[in-house]
Amino acid sequence: MKNELLVKMVEEFALNVVKPRAREIDETESFPLDTVKEMAKYGLMGLPFSTEFNGVGADTKAYIDTIRIISKYCATTGTILSAHTSLCSHPINQYGTVPQKEKYLTKLNTGEYLGAFGLTEAGAGTDASRQQTKAVDCGDYYEITGSKIFITNAGYADVYIIFAMTNAELGLKGISAFIIEKDLKGFTIGPKEKKMGIRGSSTCELIFDKVQIPKTQLLGKVGEGFKIAMTTLDGGRIGIAAQAQGIAESAFEKAVSYVKTRTQFGKPIAAFQHTQFVIADLKTQIEAGRLLLYKAVEDKDNNLSYTESAAMAKLFCSRLAVEVADSAIQLMGGYGYIRDYEVERYLRDAKITEIYEGTSEVQRMVIAGKVLRS
Ligand code: CAA
Repeated sequence: MKNELLVKMVEEFALNVVKPRAREIDETESFPLDTVKEMAKYGLMGLPFSTEFNGVGADTKAYIDTIRIISKYCATTGTILSAHTSLCSHPINQYGTVPQKEKYLTKLNTGEYLGAFGLTEAGAGTDASRQQTKAVDCGDYYEITGSKIFITNAGYADVYIIFAMTNAELGLKGISAFIIEKDLKGFTIGPKEKKMGIRGSSTCELIFDKVQIPKTQLLGKVGEGFKIAMTTLDGGRIGIAAQAQGIAESAFEKAVSYVKTRTQFGKPIAAFQHTQFVIADLKTQIEAGRLLLYKAVEDKDNNLSYTESAAMAKLFCSRLAVEVADSAIQLMGGYGYIRDYEVERYLRDAKITEIYEGTSEVQRMVIAGKVLRS
């Protein structure tokens, strides 16, 4: 399908299926499993992967536009789709063997399986190399013990990409990646975290107590786990930038429509120069965000290195989302603070984009590292 047609279809889908559920999902903190099933029917769970494995064969641009549009109407749903695609299906597509792709990617792409990614631990957040979860080589199988925190889609996912130490003496070169199925003996999920935003998404701890997995579940090579995590996050960060961009666009549209109709001192508040200057600055920032986002997309689609452009897009767009949502509330005054008007949700949803898949400080570390090492 051509990109323009896909984007049009996603716009209609988001308006008809995603938008009507957004408020209720936030209020009730309920995981939108029905929406996930609907996304699967439209092929949205396997957009950027080959048709050979039941994917749609779309490019990064189409996938990223989908995340942006879905997040514009419901950031919770955008998070679920982004974690599934960028963080679980993508590493299997990039590093998996053909049998692994046949077993997992084919079902992830149709939405029969939902995916998740487990890197973060209580003592390994920004310093992702300090993995305490261990995978002991027991001959025919690995035995995994440890825990992961803040895992998106936990409890609903069927497949998890998990990172664990196979050789602690080697530091980050001793980390390996594994494909882990739910329902394994010794694998349990902790309670759902109560969050500020993206409240319908599920965020839980994963606990591994001597979980035995066959050696065929190793993803990539032994010791390649850190590299797999970093390259996966490079792609994931473009997805989070798109999510942030979508939230910013939504907040901006709400603010513009409000200032045109809200009358004070005998005229619409859009007639005041202060309002006009705020709107002009926000529009300029949103356009700058779009350019950075699509630069990262272009780099990825052109097989260029996108570590730096993805980090810049995420750094910029996530701040943009927070600032636009905050400004929209300010322009809308008391109404902006009322839950029925939705912009307060955008601010709560936007904040996480500055934190997950690497905080803004991590993005600065990545960008500075690239500049100063070259
Ligand atoms: N691509 C390929 N290789 C990479 C890489 C990349 N993007 N980044 C680093 N590497 C390689 C380096 O080349 C280096 O390899 P060599 O030793 O062979 O040269 C090795 O990895 C170590 O690199 P660094 O010295 O830069 O690593 P570091 O330990 O200093 O870490 C860091 C750098 C940027 C802080 C990194 O640890 C990081 O990104 N931390 C944040 C982790 C993160 O984003 N966590 C979020 C988890 S997911 C989530 O949020 C939950 C969810 O479900 C949504």
